[in-house]
Amino acid sequence: METVLSGIRPTGNLHLGNYFGALRNFVKMQNEHRCFFFIADYHSLTTHPTPTDLHGNVKQVLVEYLACGLDPEKATLYIQSDLPETAELYLLLNMNAYVGELERCTSFKEKIRKQPDNINAGLLTYPTLMAADIIIHRATKVPVGKDQEQHLEMTRTFARRFNRMYNREYFPEPEAYNFGDKLIKIPGLDGSGKMGKSEGEGNAIYLADPPAEIRKKVMRAVTDAGPTQMNQEKPEPIRNLFTLMNIVSTPDTVAYFDDQYNQCMIRYGDLKKQLAEDIIRFTTPFREKILELAADNDYLHKVAQLGKDKARESASKTISDVRHIIGFKEF
Ligand code: TRP
Repeated sequence: METVLSGIRPTGNLHLGNYFGALRNFVKMQNEHRCFFFIADYHSLTTHPTPTDLHGNVKQVLVEYLACGLDPEKATLYIQSDLPETAELYLLLNMNAYVGELERCTSFKEKIRKQPDNINAGLLTYPTLMAADIIIHRATKVPVGKDQEQHLEMTRTFARRFNRMYNREYFPEPEAYNFGDKLIKIPGLDGSGKMGKSEGEGNAIYLADPPAEIRKKVMRAVTDAGPTQMNQEKPEPIRNLFTLMNIVSTPDTVAYFDDQYNQCMIRYGDLKKQLAEDIIRFTTPFREKILELAADNDYLHKVAQLGKDKARESASKTISDVRHIIGFKEF
């Protein structure tokens, strides 16, 4: 059994791409491994120091993750700022993190280009905070996308350095958890290959989108003038709609429209109507659960408290070991 950990930035609602990306796999992983999932609210301050609704953003993520099936009893689901131990480990790791290596980090270089008026120390030490998040539970596997691989590499460097400097094999070196072919890539509705909220308005379908919104987005999805030859290959925007259909519709439905396409008889309007209804059928249970949970603050309080208790149990053990290893002693 591995100790798996993932941090989630509290930025906006979940779309189908998020669900079929990591999230659906998290739900499975919680049955097989010791899992920690937390909402990285400290990290969000590196780019948004005065958020308008920090609590609301955290709540939204918590609600949507629960609605997707993360089980607070099975996994440890917590909020980063509920764990002072992370902040302490971050402080200690910073003593052995070198400004040079932090400055060379790709994400830092990118951020200082994007926010030249706010090059704060939190931004520079983003990788040490992330390393603290991971090694505070001595996690062994971290599901990360390509953009986070360098941070994970730095985490291994900090873990290894700690072990070497204090001459103890204490922290395991965490590795990327690879979903492999279990990752389903969801295309966007704008003809682009990827569903994402940075891709532009209308490209993504959110789990919380009401039916009317879904219909509107799908009806506006990019298509083309239609096939001109029998059995021709589908250009990207059309292929994308079929990819979505493959996920939410029955095989019969997909086969029907595929056939229509191959016969050059397809009416994109019909395909879109069907696709919209099938997406709605798929997302409705999620949307209903999201609404229900969002209204249940007592339950959310219990979930957060349970997560905090479980996470602190693991983290306080690490911190007490670390203090001992470094040489802090009580009088
Ligand atoms: N940096 C991650 C992101 O931008 C979020 C994150 C913070 C994280 N701490 C983490 C991810 C620890 C994995 C492990 O998505």
